Amino acid sequence: MTWLGLDGKTVVVTGGALGIGRACCEAFAEAGAKVVVADINEEEGRKTADAIKRKFRAQVLFVKVDVSNRASVEAMIRSILDAFNRLDVLVNNAGILIPRLLVDPAGKEELTEAIWDKTVAINQKGYYLCAQAAAREMIASGKGGVIINMSSESGLEGSEGQSAYAATKGAIYAMTRSWAKELGKHGIRVVGVAPGILEGTALRTAEYERALAYTRGITVEQLRAAYEKVSIPLGRTGRLSEVASVVCFLASDRAGYVHGTTVNVSGGKSRG
Ligand code: NAI
Repeated sequence: MTWLGLDGKTVVVTGGALGIGRACCEAFAEAGAKVVVADINEEEGRKTADAIKRKFRAQVLFVKVDVSNRASVEAMIRSILDAFNRLDVLVNNAGILIPRLLVDPAGKEELTEAIWDKTVAINQKGYYLCAQAAAREMIASGKGGVIINMSSESGLEGSEGQSAYAATKGAIYAMTRSWAKELGKHGIRVVGVAPGILEGTALRTAEYERALAYTRGITVEQLRAAYEKVSIPLGRTGRLSEVASVVCFLASDRAGYVHGTTVNVSGGKSRG
């Protein structure tokens, strides 16, 4: 048994194919857990699952899921139970970010209902659907469990050009607190994680950078330079593995009394 005691636990990470989710899958596999890479991107999800299986000789399953679709989420939980017979940890992580201004006088990059609805469907409703399906199973098993919700510093601070995204991340703070109040009595801990500025992931595509720079009235080069200049007391962006380590700790019994709170992983940066 390792210090974290995650050996043999079954963990599902939504959005596990890439970025932070992938880093979490790797960290859980390294800690001896059985890992489910759950993602809408089948090609990358399968590649990630195979790579982790080989690297850590771990039990890894890929499940295709659209977290915004109830039937798809319920099918994901059934696949996990068929393969591993239990579910101990859900990491709600799948998310999207499409930068837009509330009002764009030039009429180019204004927030539309379609973008609002898509962002809320994946980033907020998706977390609810996955948490509900997972918690039902955790309660039925009588063994409790842990739900980790990936939020973002922007959920408290707001973010220029990212209001729809930041709103869903703020909602995740409230869902984390509320579910903690409901699920604690069933032995299910609920904890949020709020990363600040990290090394690049697929979230930061060229189109994302173009749109975000536009909403802030600067060039892409200035946007990238601003990331370097932003006031981060530790003086650097965060590594995905540093978020994943916190997630693993919070999912373990070592964090057995951490519940209903959101842990900031931002190198000390507090205002965005
Ligand atoms: P990413 O874009 O690299 O990965 C997101 C994953 O989610 C992708 O594999 C994608 O296929 C999957 N996904 C998207 N829609 C889905 C759906 N409907 N159903 C299932 N899977 C879906 O993003 P990244 O950067 O790894 O972000 C992960 C989480 O961390 C997000 O919730 C994001 O808001 C949060 N976060 C990221 C930060 C960063 O700097 N990268 C900072 C703060 C929070």
